[in-house]
Amino acid sequence: MIEIKNLSKRYSDGTKALEHVSLKLKKRVTCILGRNGAGKTTLTRIMSTQLKPSSGTVVINGLDIRDDVDEVRGRLSSIPQEVDPWDIASPEEHIMMYLTARGIGRHEAKRYAEESMKELGLWEVRDKAMGDLSGGMKRKCFVAMALASQAEVIFLDEPTTGLDPISRIEVWAALRKIKGTIVITTHYMEEAKELSDEVVLIDKGRPVMQGSVEELLRKFKGKVRVEGPAGRYRIGGMHISYLTTAAAKRLVDKGYTIKQVSLEDLFIIHGGGLIEG
Ligand SMILES: Nc1ncnc2c1ncn2[C@@H]1O[C@H](COP(=O)(O)OP(=O)(O)OP(=O)(O)O)[C@@H](O)[C@H]1O
Ligand SMILES: [Mg+2]
Repeated sequence: MIEIKNLSKRYSDGTKALEHVSLKLKKRVTCILGRNGAGKTTLTRIMSTQLKPSSGTVVINGLDIRDDVDEVRGRLSSIPQEVDPWDIASPEEHIMMYLTARGIGRHEAKRYAEESMKELGLWEVRDKAMGDLSGGMKRKCFVAMALASQAEVIFLDEPTTGLDPISRIEVWAALRKIKGTIVITTHYMEEAKELSDEVVLIDKGRPVMQGSVEELLRKFKGKVRVEGPAGRYRIGGMHISYLTTAAAKRLVDKGYTIKQVSLEDLFIIHGGGLIEG
């Protein structure tokens, strides 16, 4: 369990990235969602002890990130949103270095590395230099490091950004096998739906919603999304409303499109700047 207690982060230039965030993450997989700049990376970096909060704290499985930094670090593994690999080393060398630095013996490390590389389709390129791999393969290599880590808690900041559809499915399948706690940020609604037991939606540094996808979509019960020239919410030149199927059908002839409601609609009704009523 991860308990975020009244957490705030103000960067040195005055940007308030998080404001009094209190959350309890109790589920196996939590997806953090939110628009660009909402504060997802800031929150993930603080939880994984890479960034100090301005105030408040986080308690991970009973350990406070302020008091027990070393102990907490030993129990978690995290993949930042942007990472630079060491170009001349191979995927296998990256994973081996990471695991041995975490105190895992060479013999076991080799086995974990092999498992994770096979699972993520990296086995064929295990000896290539990282600098010669595609962007998506590099990304998968870092995901493999976290998977192989055997950590109690894994933080993944946009692990599947830039991955092809097959690679994404490989990552999902690998994540499903992990027994520990996983906190993942994503912009892919499908991914959140596939993977998460719970989602947290952040808007401008504050959590605005928490629950299972099913639970959160219940507020749209019996309604469909209608897109057209007029309506309650506006994104650029398009208007969106949420209406009963009967009401929506009456608009079809007038150039409106009907769609099923999805997680994306939670972003729309929770504003976030560009959207006007
Ligand atoms: N090092 C920094 N110094 C100053 N401001 C920063 C710094 N890092 C992030 N910010 C600001 O903090 C806010 C939150 O940024 P953060 O990277 O946490 O957002 P995010 O939700 O991860 O966005 P994205 O979806 O684009 O990755 C933004 O306003 C951002 O500009
Ligand atoms: Mg981010």
